[in-house]
Amino acid sequence: MLDGLSGKQKTLPCKYLYDETGSRLFERICELDDYYLTRTEAAIFAEHIADMAEYIGPQALIVEPGAGNCEKVEPLLEKLAAPRGYFPIDISPEILLAAQSRINARLPDLEVRASVGDFTQADAWQPLGDLPAHRKVVFFPGSTIGNFVPLQAEALLELFASNLDCGDGLLIGTDLVKDSVVLERAYCDSEHVTEEFNKNILARINTELSADFELSHFAHRAFYHPLRQRVEMHLVSLTKQCVNLAGTRLDFAEGETIHTENSHKYTLDGFSDLLRRTGFTPIKYWTDRKQHYAIHFAQAR
Ligand code: AVJ
Repeated sequence: MLDGLSGKQKTLPCKYLYDETGSRLFERICELDDYYLTRTEAAIFAEHIADMAEYIGPQALIVEPGAGNCEKVEPLLEKLAAPRGYFPIDISPEILLAAQSRINARLPDLEVRASVGDFTQADAWQPLGDLPAHRKVVFFPGSTIGNFVPLQAEALLELFASNLDCGDGLLIGTDLVKDSVVLERAYCDSEHVTEEFNKNILARINTELSADFELSHFAHRAFYHPLRQRVEMHLVSLTKQCVNLAGTRLDFAEGETIHTENSHKYTLDGFSDLLRRTGFTPIKYWTDRKQHYAIHFAQAR
């Protein structure tokens, strides 16, 4: 945290937005009218799930990095022909355990093996080393890939590819480039839930690292940066102020910001290129009528 807050542009790693309160706020974001991503992705899945299951094929092993509560995968697992296994990876053991017993109850013949760890680190994928020899498919919905800057996104897709054999699959959701008004409304919602979500990272630092951020002295700001093709989320210092964090004094000028999250948007072509660069062959994509969101299926080379 201190590292990020000591640079010229202050930053905080966006993964720290997701403590228990943050995760609950994010779930509320997903239900907002302004936040079109979740419902658009869900509609694409609902419409094309049979088609997707066919592309994946029979007896597949589904690997889900950052699976969380594992809810998105269930309709897919139910549609697949004789799936052989489900392997969620997540940093939260409690959430994984609950999901594991729920899926076991619903699909008793499916082997479920959870791995607790950070899916961006190779060691979280270690338990996959001794999987039975069936087609593996990495399932990565939710536009989570958007949180990674292009270089990191490339490294992550390469990590996926390194855990797959030739012909294995990747089913991945991406938010698409679109009108900036629509994008900005999704991250600056009229019910101010995203504001609460963003500011929660300061509340969290206050309690967990005994800092003294005054939340009312910071404002939520989210804007689309067309060149970088991403929505950036910041916390703006409303005054010149200083904050104490674990014995270190941090100075803020009026208007200075903490950059808390990136949400990268892709074009259909741009994402296909990224897939090709990272060891995949794009096979098929599904999108909504307005082309707000896409789900891509690709095969490892
Ligand atoms: C979880 C990364 C997909 O970028 O849209 C939502 C996170 N941040 N509103 C996104 C988020 C603010 C979300 N992802």
